[in-house]
Amino acid sequence: MPFNLDPLNPFPFYSIMRKRSPVYFDEKSEIWNVFSYTDVRKVLWDYKNFSSEFEMDGILKGTIINLDPPAHDKLRALVSDPFSPNNVGQLSNRIKDIVNEILNNVKGNEIDIISELAIPVPVRVIANLLGLREEDLWKFKDWTDSLVGVNDYSTDKITELIEYLSEIIAERKTEPKKDLISLLLCSTVDGEKLTEKQLLGFIVLLLIAGNETTTNLIGNGVLTLLENKNSLYELKKDKQKMTTAIEEILRYRSPVQGMFRVAKNDVELSGKKIKKGSAVLAWIGSANRDENQFPNADKFIIDRSPNPHLAFGSGVHTCLGAPLARLEGKIVLSTLLERFSNMELVDQRLEPITNGLFYGVKSLKIYIS
Ligand code: HEM
Repeated sequence: MPFNLDPLNPFPFYSIMRKRSPVYFDEKSEIWNVFSYTDVRKVLWDYKNFSSEFEMDGILKGTIINLDPPAHDKLRALVSDPFSPNNVGQLSNRIKDIVNEILNNVKGNEIDIISELAIPVPVRVIANLLGLREEDLWKFKDWTDSLVGVNDYSTDKITELIEYLSEIIAERKTEPKKDLISLLLCSTVDGEKLTEKQLLGFIVLLLIAGNETTTNLIGNGVLTLLENKNSLYELKKDKQKMTTAIEEILRYRSPVQGMFRVAKNDVELSGKKIKKGSAVLAWIGSANRDENQFPNADKFIIDRSPNPHLAFGSGVHTCLGAPLARLEGKIVLSTLLERFSNMELVDQRLEPITNGLFYGVKSLKIYIS
């Protein structure tokens, strides 16, 4: 993270910045940093002034995350349907099976929530969604690992992944199945289809945008519940609270702490003049702790309502995978609560991940019984 922020606890720093300098130009990095809820939301919403079309290398260039409307909206319409809450809901049983299978294989009373559960679940769910063969899972895991923490999305491993995906696409063209790749191959909007390059770019985007983020939602969720035992007991008693609990975890420990934009025009934000072409970093993690928006913002309140957090972004780029991430988070946490009457942190010393603007811990060993 920039500014030598404490990667485990950047919140006191955000709080100071919101009070003293909510829109701040950092001379060293030459980036405008935006901290308040209102301004972060504006930057994410206002694509006419804050564009997503900045320089991006390799396969992600020109994918939906790197385009503004109208090109963005057209492409997003082509890929959206399989990610609707209804369609994603049909994956429920498969996700439960994956989670239970992993937990059935745990030996003894200790589990590293991150490496044994929070990393494999999203990778296996996405592999399933894409319709990949079970025997290819380990290769796929290796490739998706190499996407983590990578800034240059054009390495050898990614070339291998793209070759593999191209083969699957060719297979599905001649013999369609009931999987995401087959669905995307026949999706049309105004008579237009995705090109093969667009399809490949989109699949790699899913892997980059969907895996580590969901890993961190699960890890941050378990950690937060273990730190707030009263909330954990409340949740055990009343499963209905899972919906608000997931939203509060997303707000309280947002898996993505910030998102970049580039100023498309000279623009003013909270009295600061931002020049066309400047890089702008909207601090989602700070917006979600803004007292002006969330009373007792530094407190974890399991049934907080309303909870208009920005963890999934806001506006045209709002996370496409949000229904899937929420479902995976709910299933993992509910299954842990159902299966184990006791969960305790084994080691209180936690090491943060150091992957850009992602927020989570490297390992989370817990005792279960
Ligand atoms: C807790 C987990 C997740 C978090 C916190 C998260 C967060 C975000 C955020 C903040 C954005 C907005 C980007 C922007 O404004 O430029 C975004 C976009 C996106 N996310 Fe997620 N995400 C999560 C899970 C997923 C999953 C599971 C998938 C798919 C499998 C996914 C796919 C996408 C895609 C495709 C976009 C781009 C949407 C667009 O540009 O129109 N995400 N996500």
